[in-house]
Amino acid sequence: MSRKARLAVLVSGGGSNLQAIIDACQQNNLNAEVAVVVSNRDKIYALERAKKHNIETIVALPKDFPDKTIYSQYIADELKKRNIDLVCLAGYLLKLEPNFVRSFKGRIINIHPALLPKFGGDGMYGHFVHEAVLKAKEKESGPTVHFVDEVYDNGEIILQAKVPVLPNDTPDTLAKRVLEQEHKIYPEAIKIVLSKLGF
Ligand code: GAR
Repeated sequence: MSRKARLAVLVSGGGSNLQAIIDACQQNNLNAEVAVVVSNRDKIYALERAKKHNIETIVALPKDFPDKTIYSQYIADELKKRNIDLVCLAGYLLKLEPNFVRSFKGRIINIHPALLPKFGGDGMYGHFVHEAVLKAKEKESGPTVHFVDEVYDNGEIILQAKVPVLPNDTPDTLAKRVLEQEHKIYPEAIKIVLSKLGF
């Protein structure tokens, strides 16, 4: 397939992974373009990043919808309208409802800042993950890119990278070391998935 894959990136925060994906597209490391960025919060830096690159943004606040299923359906419908090929969750902190997962079956991936299947599940996001890794006295950590299915942090693993946990680590120092690897493996994982999808 010679056309570029159309990516939707879903964000809730700073968007450094979004930036890594945009950069990989622009450097032609990926036969893809970020067609739309979707956020569940307004005034986050990820939206600024998108605007700087003239990427369309959709801010969908859950409080404006009657329930989570209708919220998920709204996002699914907006992505369908835009012919999205792959949905990339990049620091998106809401759980997607089963109707969304069914709409994009096999076409949703997520990055998690720990070595799944350890340290995943409900409530395990951002600094909570790194705190749990340190508390468990793990010797190593690192990000995981995986497919999203209807169970939180459960889908098939696509790529992982390992970093050491150092004796004086705080959640912040560990997060920084893991995040550097996230920016490398997320574009690589997207490439792997796109090639399976025929791009
Ligand atoms: C990343 O560390 C990502 O792995 C994590 O949120 C951060 C977002 O950073 N995601 C989760 O914890 C999901 N369970 P970013 O906004 O700079 O990309």
